[in-house]
Amino acid sequence: MALGVVWFISTVFSLVHLTPLHLPKEEYGFKQWMSQHNKVYDTEEYYHRLHIFTENRREIDHHNAGNHSFTMGLNQFSDMTFEEFRKLFLLTEPQNCSATTGGHVNRAGPYPEFVDWRMKDNVVTPVKNQGHCGSCWTFSTTGCLESVNAIATGKLIPLSEQQLIDCAKDFNNHGCMGGLPSQAFEYIKYNKGLMTEEDYPYKGHDDSCHFEPALAAAFVLDVVNITSYDEKAMVDAVARLNPVSFGFQVTADFMHYREGVYRSTQCKNTADKVNHAVLAVGYGVEESGMPYWIVKNSWGTAWGMDGYFLIERGKNMCGLAACSSYPLLLI
Ligand SMILES: *[C@@H]1O[C@H](CO)[C@@H](O)[C@H](O)[C@H]1NC(C)=O
Ligand SMILES: *[C@@H]1O[C@H](CO)[C@@H](O)[C@H](O)[C@H]1NC(C)=O
Ligand SMILES: *[C@@H]1O[C@H](CO)[C@@H](O)[C@H](O)[C@H]1NC(C)=O
Repeated sequence: MALGVVWFISTVFSLVHLTPLHLPKEEYGFKQWMSQHNKVYDTEEYYHRLHIFTENRREIDHHNAGNHSFTMGLNQFSDMTFEEFRKLFLLTEPQNCSATTGGHVNRAGPYPEFVDWRMKDNVVTPVKNQGHCGSCWTFSTTGCLESVNAIATGKLIPLSEQQLIDCAKDFNNHGCMGGLPSQAFEYIKYNKGLMTEEDYPYKGHDDSCHFEPALAAAFVLDVVNITSYDEKAMVDAVARLNPVSFGFQVTADFMHYREGVYRSTQCKNTADKVNHAVLAVGYGVEESGMPYWIVKNSWGTAWGMDGYFLIERGKNMCGLAACSSYPLLLI
């Protein structure tokens, strides 16, 4: 009885947001979050971050109280405004990403209802973390080439993002300032190879190029672009061939993603708005009937569903079909 009353009161309070900004309850939650994420601030910064954290938490609670296909949650980004997040982690300039006629050739289906390349032995490397560098495009590229290489050779070898950051500038890539998987595959093709993660480890900032031809470990014969906005061709490629690199637009609601099928009314769906690159490793259909992609991100395993997310499939959600590509392997 008493417990029920406490539950009722606390529910009413949290639902109507009667808690003012700097009450101990919020600070307690913030301090817990700080210790969980090893955050330390000076006093001034502490109150600034507490304020942002509290706003984010409100947005998360508000979203989760509604009827949505995905939930939000606290994560390592919860003390940042979206504007700060955008500058640190996303592509800040429009990329040249649309392929009006792609090289991918569709076969006629039928396709399996559910595909998940992670369930095959040794095809997908563990989720990585790009850190404070706009290098998503390099992780999308290595993720795709690692899988293509593993499917063909049986060997799953983590490949170097840092080489792409340092060396792929002649192909319209800009290190931590952005780039595109299709352009990175072009670089690997003309460069005659990409080194391993071990031989050319990740630093997460721009540096000079240290490519050593003798240590090249994966080779690209050609780049296959999928025709822009042909999402069915992406299904064809993922079902028959391998995981596929794609770009889409990240908006503020995505920063707090926890689990479920992401869909947004905030994002746009054109190629010029694409600001993040990731890897489709599979697809499926929810019990509710909603089709989705299974996507590998590069924000570490603490974000989303162990570093992965699901996003609605079949509607070019957030421009996800605007620029997708994969490499053909040179063995
Ligand atoms: C929640 O949303 C789904 C899909 O939009 C809808 O089918 C369902 O009826 C909604 N449930 C409630 C309780 O509003
Ligand atoms: C693929 O698209 C990129 C732009 O993202 C373009 O630079 C490249 O030439 C295209 N490659 C092919 C083989 O169509
Ligand atoms: C897009 O392509 C043009 C022409 O090749 C180039 O000058 C420009 O820098 C490219 N944009 C980006 C963001 O790479």
